[in-house]
Amino acid sequence: MITSISARVERREQVTPVHVLLRVHAPEIAADAQPGQFVHLRASEAYDPLLRRPFSVMRTEAATGALDLLIQVVGRGSRLVADAVTGATFDLLGPLGVGFPLPPPGTPVSLVAGGVGVAPLIFLAEALSSAASPYEITGLFGARTAEFLCCWTEFAGRCTRFTAVTEDGSTGQQGLVTDFLAQHLAAQASRRVLPTVYACGPLPMLAAVAHLCSEHEVTAFVSLERWMGCGVGACLGCVVPSARAEGPRYVRVCKDGPVFLAGDLDWQAMPE
Ligand SMILES: Cc1cc2nc3c(=O)[nH]c(=O)nc-3n(C[C@H](O)[C@H](O)[C@H](O)COP(=O)(O)OP(=O)(O)OC[C@H]3O[C@@H](n4cnc5c(N)ncnc54)[C@H](O)[C@@H]3O)c2cc1C
Ligand code: FES
Repeated sequence: MITSISARVERREQVTPVHVLLRVHAPEIAADAQPGQFVHLRASEAYDPLLRRPFSVMRTEAATGALDLLIQVVGRGSRLVADAVTGATFDLLGPLGVGFPLPPPGTPVSLVAGGVGVAPLIFLAEALSSAASPYEITGLFGARTAEFLCCWTEFAGRCTRFTAVTEDGSTGQQGLVTDFLAQHLAAQASRRVLPTVYACGPLPMLAAVAHLCSEHEVTAFVSLERWMGCGVGACLGCVVPSARAEGPRYVRVCKDGPVFLAGDLDWQAMPE
């Protein structure tokens, strides 16, 4: 059930110069949130910024009502959220959107994170690794530089095997995370293994993931980050083109997503 609450900041941790981990008390949302869902947060009680800002749920603790958000500062809204002090409150709407469907038990899983896109994948990795029959999880995490490989130890700790990739080689392997996904899918294909892939990160990365998975005939779910207005499916401000033969030509990231089957989206027509 979607709830609107005033959530109190219980803990603030500056994880890198541009990332803050916020723990808020939001029991109604924490009780229902699934990996891949997000909250829509009002960054200020004033009218600037006017619109709420969407942030993925990174972790929940149903027993205490805690909900963790990983905030990367990119503009005024995220700066206001990241600067919150303990005891401050935010108006939160959530949990919103459609999360990641879990694969059938026994399916190997590959999680591909780009930058702050790691947040919902940490939540997913926790769900997969604590399932009754835990999954074999391959984690791939890419970022521009070491600074943007935020919370990688938390992600790695939930994976069976893990590779960190930076574009400048400052940590882990040098290159693009999708280069390593290509190698991984080729190795799996030679063993006749078909993993299910889950990805969240910048759009070009997701497009490359969709392309590679289509080549290898592998099921892939991608979580999109788009500008949002209402966050609840009413304004059509977040639509992206669908590739499905039936149904609407455009789908709403906030309501029909943010998680989509990669093959259901029209990547050629995707706006930047
Ligand atoms: C479903 C969803 C989940 C998200 N989860 C997280 C998360 O867990 N952690 C996190 O730090 N961020 C997340 N984001 C992105 C976050 O919502 C934006 O960074 C934030 O709204 C920017 O607000 P701002 O006022 O700081 O920036 P603005 O001043 O509004 O914009 C600054 C710059 O940020 C970029 N930007 C702004 N909004 C978006 C957006 N929605 N998508 C892509 N680029 C954007 C643009 O390049 C813009 O130039 C998520 C977005 C969506 C849609
Ligand atoms: S943000 Fe309004 S429909 Fe998606």
